[in-house]
Amino acid sequence: MSYYQGIADYYDLLMDGGYYNYELLATAICSAIGQRKRILELGIGTGQMAQALLKVDSTYDFVGIDFSPAMIEIAKKRLSNSIPIIECDVAEMNLNRRFDAAISSGGTWVIIQSSNELLLGTHLFNQENDFRGLQNVANHLDRGGLLLLSVHPPHEDRDLDLTNGIIYSQRIGKYNGGSDHFFLEKTYSFHKQESLLAEETLTLGFYRDTVFLKMLADVGFNPLGMTNAEKFFVFEKVA
Ligand SMILES: C[S@@+](CC[C@H](N)C(=O)[O-])C[C@H]1O[C@@H](n2cnc3c(N)ncnc32)[C@H](O)[C@@H]1O
Repeated sequence: MSYYQGIADYYDLLMDGGYYNYELLATAICSAIGQRKRILELGIGTGQMAQALLKVDSTYDFVGIDFSPAMIEIAKKRLSNSIPIIECDVAEMNLNRRFDAAISSGGTWVIIQSSNELLLGTHLFNQENDFRGLQNVANHLDRGGLLLLSVHPPHEDRDLDLTNGIIYSQRIGKYNGGSDHFFLEKTYSFHKQESLLAEETLTLGFYRDTVFLKMLADVGFNPLGMTNAEKFFVFEKVA
């Protein structure tokens, strides 16, 4: 799987340039999960979210999964191999243990909030994989366990000046697919003056709320709503 391979080396530069505020996200997660300590991060990436969370509470029993070897390599260095980071696709995940909370912060799934609706955004390639992945997450949580999905505005074209004269650009293609489940291509690129340093195009999927709430209900998740400041949407495993 070559996901995030093309831009892994520049990912942290972009995040440090203000793309995500990990301290604020970590605070929102900590207050939402309360006393739950066994945490599974879905799409740990380069480990920035994990590091921020462990800084707030070093007693978390934390495991991260990701299917991009390039991102995992950076996460392992960042976290000095202090937590287990497992290379796997969430659609195939079987870790033989359970957790109190699963978090996807810009990871496998997210919630996209526009003025009039919520969508489930996914990095997975088809509905069967999404369903299997969500089922796997449910199977790894105890009853009362939480699933937290980060909340984002709709994707749009954007340019950002990073350090050392590097410019990040994201370009969003046209939506295609059906009316309840559709896709777009998002191209991430990093330039310095005229030279292209790195580029990757990912296909991102989206489900309307009628579809994703049913998929989540079918695997045992009940929607609880947004955390403070609408950083995460929280589901509880009830079945
Ligand atoms: C935008 S990064 C977010 C990383 C990190 N959570 C953060 O906050 O910086 C998304 C990550 O999700 C991972 N990912 C996407 N789909 C996945 C899947 N099906 N199984 C495991 N990891 C996946 C990607 O490889 C990538 O590292």
